[in-house]
Amino acid sequence: MLSKAIQDALNKQVQMEAESSQAYLAMASWAEIQPGLVGVTEFFYKQSDEERVHMLKLLRFVNERGGFAVVPALEQPTLTFTSLKKLFEEFLKHELKVSNSINDLVHLSLTEKDYATHNFLQWYVNEQIEEERTARTLNDKLELIGDDKSGLYLFDRDIMNYRGAEGKK
Ligand code: FEO
Repeated sequence: MLSKAIQDALNKQVQMEAESSQAYLAMASWAEIQPGLVGVTEFFYKQSDEERVHMLKLLRFVNERGGFAVVPALEQPTLTFTSLKKLFEEFLKHELKVSNSINDLVHLSLTEKDYATHNFLQWYVNEQIEEERTARTLNDKLELIGDDKSGLYLFDRDIMNYRGAEGKK
């Protein structure tokens, strides 16, 4: 059985994952109407799908543990970006925010002595290591490329090989 504090915190995380899915869907939509960003577009559509999986996993866990998972109202995400660099900076910033939130949840699960939730959250801890790595690598690549057109062409092609764009899970 979940404590009230754990249930509320897990439901807040449900909301955060749902908002992540919306945020990346908006990034995909913006990328899709820019010339030539086919790979980036697919990458963010897949990221959005993954975040929905993260959200569902939490939602079902709350219900399985005798709680009630609340389907949240969502804020409209940022719709437009001034550059590709800005878009990827936002991606990294967002993932760092999610990691902090997962860490807070892990901490809470220990203080509440909820070891089942603590165990469940390890999947998210590992997932955040991956997501942060992906976001950092992509930001570093863009920094190196600068305004070089052929570099950007290769970036858009290579992003298809990232785990986020492979439909993992
Ligand atoms: Fe589910 Fe990318 O955080």
